[in-house]
Formats: sequence, structure tokens, C-alpha cells
Amino acid sequence: MRIPNENSRLVLTTFTGVVIGFFLGVSFPVVLLDKKTNLYSTMPSSIYLDHIKEMYPGLSTQRILNLWSSLHHNNDMSSPNGTKIWATENPRGAERLPPGVVEPESDFYLRRLWGKPSEDLTIKPKYLVTFTVGYEQKEIINKAVKKFSENFTILLFHYDGRTSEWSEFEWSKRAIHVSAHKQSKWWYAKRFLHPDIVAPYDYIFIWDEDLGLDDFDAEKYIELIKKHGLEISQPGLSENSGYLSWQMTRKQNDTEVHKVAKEKEGWWCLHPHLPPCAAFVEIMAPVFSRNAWRCVWNMIQNDLVHGWGLDFALRRCVEPAHEKIGVVDAQPIVHQTLPSLGNQGKAVKGKAPREAVKKRCKREWIMFHIRMRLAERAYYKLREMASNQTNTAPLI
Ligand SMILES: *[C@@H]1O[C@H](CO)[C@@H](O)[C@H](O)[C@H]1NC(C)=O
Ligand SMILES: *[C@@H]1O[C@H](CO)[C@@H](O)[C@H](O)[C@H]1NC(C)=O
Ligand SMILES: *[C@@H]1O[C@H](CO)[C@@H](O)[C@H](O)[C@H]1NC(C)=O
Ligand SMILES: *[C@@H]1O[C@H](CO)[C@@H](O)[C@H](O)[C@H]1NC(C)=O
Repeated sequence: MRIPNENSRLVLTTFTGVVIGFFLGVSFPVVLLDKKTNLYSTMPSSIYLDHIKEMYPGLSTQRILNLWSSLHHNNDMSSPNGTKIWATENPRGAERLPPGVVEPESDFYLRRLWGKPSEDLTIKPKYLVTFTVGYEQKEIINKAVKKFSENFTILLFHYDGRTSEWSEFEWSKRAIHVSAHKQSKWWYAKRFLHPDIVAPYDYIFIWDEDLGLDDFDAEKYIELIKKHGLEISQPGLSENSGYLSWQMTRKQNDTEVHKVAKEKEGWWCLHPHLPPCAAFVEIMAPVFSRNAWRCVWNMIQNDLVHGWGLDFALRRCVEPAHEKIGVVDAQPIVHQTLPSLGNQGKAVKGKAPREAVKKRCKREWIMFHIRMRLAERAYYKLREMASNQTNTAPLI
């Protein structure tokens, strides 16, 4: 960062963690230094003393000097007896850091560039909603976003490169915009929604752009999924949706939520507790709890960008799946079925771009299914071999 009229760079050192024992449990952050000041000196320079006093108006100069000096009496970077730090409880690769300073998680909270960091945030949204969007759907998205209060962080994934045009909407300033040319929702989700980054959010909505939310209230939806213990859910799809693929995700009348459904005669369901008759939501408008998302994120394959087949595998992430996955009937949405991103494909052999995308979707579905089955078989095989070895070990 460059500071006008000063050539020296500023280094921002943050001491997080509580310095109990030194100072009655008062935490002691932020010291600003430029390169001309000796960071390791046993006395803070007067400029920085002023900063510290401003941060901690309650402390006398003498106490500040005592604390400073006790933190710096050992000038070889405070490693007593030359001991080097190796903290195995830290995340992999960060073992050399003192654990008190390690921040393994982050968030999407927007901060200011000035003032006290502790006063940056007036509200810390507990929910995250993402839409994968093209500018052509701006009216739908504008209406949709207004259904989410300040308790939601809004994150838009732009697949058409048109991001600045959204600033015509007032809410756009508080949204996060991520742009990558012609990518799919699950491609973005894998790259930008790592569980450690979205850790502060109780629930994460990962939604398409062609959803009608006229009869939907996000806050009430959250109340219902909490009440019914749903770790993975979606709103029911109302009858005027373009095309209803499954009975399970169709809005039912006279219920708040449902967790099981009946498919058409002789169709699909091998067991009443298995998808698509239970433990099933579609990939167009899923909502995940923090824990469920940590599992689902790990299941998303880097190369299978359309997410087809994920819906049938979500049940692997919660237990018992037929109780923790469900559809919220009391807060329905309309699936408008606009083939938006589908049209961003490439025409192959004279066929419409949409056809080639569709083909890839189906191919990915089969690939994902086979990968899952192979991985599962490999796991059980290894376990069996391991247990055979322990059983036979005494004989060898
Ligand atoms: C460092 O050395 C001193 C004196 O030899 C000893 O009392 C102290 O316990 C040692 N500290 C550590 C952390 O090993
Ligand atoms: C936001 O969350 C707070 C705390 O849960 C709640 O009191 C408030 O009503 C919510 N805001 C809206 C607009 O629902
Ligand atoms: C629910 O009610 C609507 C409107 O009366 C009707 O069109 C729809 O078929 C009903 N849905 C179910 C699942 O019974
Ligand atoms: C483990 O032992 C069982 C019973 O002896 C045997 O049938 C099976 O093939 C063994 N599995 C492996 C992976 O060695």
C-alpha cells in the first residue's frame, strides 16, 4: 500500500491474542511502524506511543511502556532459549506460526480503509446468498436480491464479464462481484466458496438466476429450516414453474415442509428413503447448513462443472439423510427455466449451443456416478484388507 507524501512503506503488525499475565487480560493490537523505526527496540517511538494511547485511552503511559518492554526484552524475536516454533495444531503448512496469530477462516464482510478495524462492521450477516448471473437477467435478479435482508451477504458470480453495469442498482455496492468468463455455478462454488471462507455463515444459498421469488421470504424460510432441522433444503417449486422434473421438489399444499414424496408408478425410487423420493433436492436452488456445505464442497469435482448427479449424492453428507434433507412448501419459488448459461455454449457440428451443453451435463452425470461408486468400492476394499491384515498378523 502506498501512502501519499511518504516514501517509506508502512508495515502493519498485528498482535492478536490476549496477553494475559502481562496485562490483566487486556488485548493489545496494532502497532504502526515505518522502516526508520526499530521494531525490536525496547522503547516504542513517541509517534507509536501516541497511536497506542489512542487505541487504549484507559492505560497510563507507564503501563504501556512496561508492557512494550516486557514484550521486547528478548530481542532475538522472542524465542526463549532459541526454541523454534512448531505448532502441530496449526493448519498444515502454518506450523511455524504462534497459534495465537493464526486465522484459518475468513469471510466476505466488506471493511473500510480507515478508522478502527473493530468498528468497521455494523452488522455481520449470518447468511450468504449467491446467484450465478448474466446481465440479461438483471431484472429477475434485482427482484430476487430485494428478498434478502441486510442479514444476508450477497455474492454474484458473473459468467458474461458484465459486472460494472450492475452498479445501477443501489444494492450492488454491498454485494461481492466475482467475474470469470462462461463458467458454471458449481465451478464458481468450488473455487470461491471454500468452507473456511464461508465459515461465518449459518446457511448458504447457491442459486440459479431464473428463479421467481414473489411468494418467497428468506427470513421466514430460515426459520422453517431451523424448526424442521433441515441441513440441506430447497423451496418447493410452484405449479407455474416451467418444468417439474421430480415429485419431491414440487410444492405440496397444506404443509410447511416435506421430506418424502412418491414418484410416478414404476419409476426411479429403489427405496422410500432414497433419492429421488427422499433425501433429495435439486441443484438449482439448494440451501446448505455450514456443516453440510463443508462436506458437499469436498464432494464437488473440479472438472465436472455442471453439478449433475450431485443432487443424488447429497444424502452422503448428512445422517440420517431422509430427515435432514427436505423441501420447504410454505416458502415456494417459481423455476422459470430460462436456458441462460446453456446458450453460452459452443455450437458443435451445426447443433445449437444448448445441445452441446446438455450433452456434457449428461456425460458429467455418468462420470460422477461412476467415480463415486469406484471410490466407495476402493474404500471398502482397503478397509477389508486392513482388517484381514490385523486378523492374520499373529499367524505370520
Ligand atoms: C530457558 O532457560 C532457562 C534457564 O536455563 C530455563 O529456566 C527455562 O525453563 C527455559 N525455558 C524454556 C522455554 O525452555
Ligand atoms: C436480521 O436478524 C436479526 C437477528 O436475528 C433479526 O432480529 C432481524 O429481524 C433480521 N432482519 C430482518 C430484516 O428480518
Ligand atoms: C396445490 O394447489 C394448487 C392450486 O390449487 C394446485 O394447482 C396443485 O395441483 C396442488 N398441488 C398438489 C401437490 O396437490
Ligand atoms: C479378506 O478375508 C476374507 C475371508 O478370509 C476373504 O474372503 C477376502 O477375499 C479377503 N479380502 C482381501 C481384500 O484380501
